[in-house]
Amino acid sequence: LNVFFLSDLHLAHEGELVRGQDTNAAFDRGWVEFAGVIASADLVVACGDISHNGCMEGYMRFQRAVEGCATKVLATVGNHDDREMFSYHLGAQHFCETGHAQSAHHGSKSVILLDTLVPGRPHGALCQERIAWLSDQLRLAAGRPVIAVMHHPPLSLGIPALDDVSLLEGRSELLSVLESYPGPLAIFSGHHHIAVSNRVGRLPIYICPAFSGPPAKFGLWRHPPEFGPGANGACGVTIGDGGSLAVHFLTHV
Ligand SMILES: [Fe+2]
Repeated sequence: LNVFFLSDLHLAHEGELVRGQDTNAAFDRGWVEFAGVIASADLVVACGDISHNGCMEGYMRFQRAVEGCATKVLATVGNHDDREMFSYHLGAQHFCETGHAQSAHHGSKSVILLDTLVPGRPHGALCQERIAWLSDQLRLAAGRPVIAVMHHPPLSLGIPALDDVSLLEGRSELLSVLESYPGPLAIFSGHHHIAVSNRVGRLPIYICPAFSGPPAKFGLWRHPPEFGPGANGACGVTIGDGGSLAVHFLTHV
């Protein structure tokens, strides 16, 4: 299964800059540059912060891009999104019965998207309802390879400015459910606007760079990240039979 994975689009009002970055222009450039890759993917996954501060124009821009795309697209929300606005423009297929932006693709491999949004707050959370839905989806996946997708990474990087806004509530409950899955499983997140490959418990975790939001130019050890205009990126993910995983970090300017 080939997945084109993008996060942190931060699509804004026409002419609005996000920390100096023209996110709409960066999105349009990236979407054109990766058009061939997107067309040849089996699935496109957008991991939240589609719109900057939930603005309608952001969802409309993403909706137009998705409508022109023959590949199936799954999307969830990040801290900058507005669930109602997201649902209105992108559709109910991205939502589960609990009213959260959770959806899944099941085939010989499974991709499960979780909603970690806490309205008005920068950090992430998963409540019992959302985790119970995840457990049901993992039962459906039945040991086949899984990638679990959520905006807020459920790990600490040792960078306080980022760790303070990671998945803070429901983290241990989430990790115990994921770790008890009997098949291969990897976690994909966004939110920090930097590219990271790491491990949490026995599970690999990848943090995708921002597709068009301002990249974090510097953020390492105890150095706070500086967000500003610059190169953006995405991940090309191949999940093989038996759960092999190839993750390519892609960049565009
Ligand atoms: Fe973001």
